[in-house]
Amino acid sequence: MATELNFLISSLKGYLVELRETGVDGLPYGYGVERVAPPPVVAEELPRLETNDISGSATGSETVAQIRLELGGCQRCQLGGTRTNLVFGAGNEKSEIVFVGEAPGRDEDLKGEPFVGEAGQLLTKIIQAMGLAREDVYICNVLKCRPPNNRNPQPEEIEACQPILLRQLQAISPKIIIALGTFAAQTLLRTRAPISQLRGRIHDYHGIPLMPTFHPAFLLRNPGKKREVWEDMKQVLKLLGREPAGS
Ligand code: URA
Repeated sequence: MATELNFLISSLKGYLVELRETGVDGLPYGYGVERVAPPPVVAEELPRLETNDISGSATGSETVAQIRLELGGCQRCQLGGTRTNLVFGAGNEKSEIVFVGEAPGRDEDLKGEPFVGEAGQLLTKIIQAMGLAREDVYICNVLKCRPPNNRNPQPEEIEACQPILLRQLQAISPKIIIALGTFAAQTLLRTRAPISQLRGRIHDYHGIPLMPTFHPAFLLRNPGKKREVWEDMKQVLKLLGREPAGS
């Protein structure tokens, strides 16, 4: 009975994550009570983060190591009290490509490294298919600490972490950012538009081109969507003047 219940709960959780990944961010609250998601807003209608919105220096002259040092044992939000390790980011700090995911999961929290679980293994394969190695790119997340039980990030956690990410991205100054999944794409582009509408074309993040695409965890549940991610990665490679592996 307990096993069946666990199976049911985990299936339901997977289904809800999938809905969120395709842009559904609200469900009706009981019978006869209509609770609709706020209308989608296009990125251009939302206020942009100006450089002076962020804490600390954001001149582009600071290094990733300096930002990490300043972050220390961050307690800017409640996740500082529940994480095992802060997951700042990993890879080549001079890379032309930065992948940005949502937040560390259990494996990442334990290791202190982004994308080391099952979704991370798929991300590694995507990077390799692009003719690159993990060490060639930089990988990080919108949130640097794991939300307990992988719950949705809270607005105050996003607000506390966003300035750090912006500084990190300005320090790396890549030629392109790849936003993995709904959460990363919507947060970076300050939009409510679903990932299915955002992906497939290049957007702008503070002057840096940004390609939104499906999250590898979503691809694990929907392998049929890998083709679309590959189309997105081909556009990225074209922008960089690079060829996919084996071509
Ligand atoms: N999913 C993410 O969004 N980030 C990670 O680091 C791992 C899984």
